[in-house]
Amino acid sequence: MIKKCLFPVAGYGTRFLPATKSMPKEMLPIVNKPLVQYGVEEAIAAGMRTCAMVTGRGKRTITDHFDISYELEHQISGSGKEAALASIRDVLEKGVFASVRQREMKGLGHAILTGEPLIGNEPFGVLLSDDLCLNDGPGVLTQMAALYEQFQCSIVAIQEVPKEDTHKYGVIAGEAIAEGVYRVSDMVEKPAPADAPSNLAIIGRYILTPDIFDILRNTEPGANGEIQITDALQTQAEEGRVIAYQFAGRRFDCGSVPGFVEATNFVYDNYYLQK
Ligand code: G1P
Repeated sequence: MIKKCLFPVAGYGTRFLPATKSMPKEMLPIVNKPLVQYGVEEAIAAGMRTCAMVTGRGKRTITDHFDISYELEHQISGSGKEAALASIRDVLEKGVFASVRQREMKGLGHAILTGEPLIGNEPFGVLLSDDLCLNDGPGVLTQMAALYEQFQCSIVAIQEVPKEDTHKYGVIAGEAIAEGVYRVSDMVEKPAPADAPSNLAIIGRYILTPDIFDILRNTEPGANGEIQITDALQTQAEEGRVIAYQFAGRRFDCGSVPGFVEATNFVYDNYYLQK
């Protein structure tokens, strides 16, 4: 069973300036819940109760969000407003929250390596909260954890994207071994459409085996001059140790304004109004 999930939450969120000037992008709400809480709920539902946050400067409100607000609890206790705290109380009851600071922004691979002391020598999930994934059935990490039981190797979530968008993603090539399941042979970070090995893009959900840390330590900066998790995974893929999985559910790119607005409308119509 996978017990830990890593949340790289140190990024700047420049696409949402000025909103993100003094507020972490992960705290932007989709309706009335911060993006990062959707991610934490998905991880906990998958049994990954230890949430390891890789934070940075200006991100304290994230760690505060996953702690008791004594004053608020005191004020609201016994009032008609208690229901508003139900989801976060549930998360606090089930989850354990730890954090480490990433002092320099050297890429997603570097962020994951920074989280090593919180993970140790066991397989773990990684969730990028910009990618909001919603499914009426089991969440994406739950689906991936089941696949890990079967394959015992690293798993990446993928989705088909328009060919002209490949430069925004890690892109895989592989052999289909079951419906929506590929044994990965090749992975490229942010290829131009002409260089992309397929239109199957990596979405922000991973299950990684802990040998990835040693590989990351020896991974040179790649696309954008950053240490890329995609490049480290390529080393595992060459040994046939990466599975890509076309998950069930909808994904919203909440790192972009159009995706954020789309997610807001979707959650408002399908979850908030249905309550
Ligand atoms: C990161 C990864 C990329 C992946 C993407 C998913 O890129 O490096 O491989 O496809 O997340 O959202 P970023 O969006 O941080 O540039």
